[in-house]
Amino acid sequence: MKIVIGNDHAAVDMKNEIKAYLEEQGHEVVNFGTDTNDSVNYPEYGEKVGVAVANGEFDCGILICGTGVGISIAANKVNGVRAAVCSEPTTARLVKEHNNANIIAFGARIVGMETAKAIVDAYLGATFMGGRHQERIDMFSDIENRQK
Ligand code: RB5
Repeated sequence: MKIVIGNDHAAVDMKNEIKAYLEEQGHEVVNFGTDTNDSVNYPEYGEKVGVAVANGEFDCGILICGTGVGISIAANKVNGVRAAVCSEPTTARLVKEHNNANIIAFGARIVGMETAKAIVDAYLGATFMGGRHQERIDMFSDIENRQK
């Protein structure tokens, strides 16, 4: 898969390890995140990854900040983005199966490295179930269109 990853200063080490982990599995991973511990503003990274995913440049995105929350809120401001914060693998599977999440997010200050890998594995191994779930996804677009 072609995956974009983004992060703020709270998640540089976790980003590097997740990127390497996915590349070992044969995925192409493009890094839009910061690479130093200098403080940055997570909305910039959430937007950048969100726009690239919404434009179809990548199959999906991964966002990591301290909690996963701020960076996912920013991504969700981009039309077409369905970013979901996950702190364990069951949620990561279900956000793909039911919500067709195109970005997953997690917190480097919340989950450990092994849980982060399990979250990514569960998400990438899942398939959107469609059917009644598609009708609900369509309602997300309706909400976006009502805001225009
Ligand atoms: C940065 O200190 C921190 O606020 C950020 O990484 C994230 O947790 C925000 O949601």
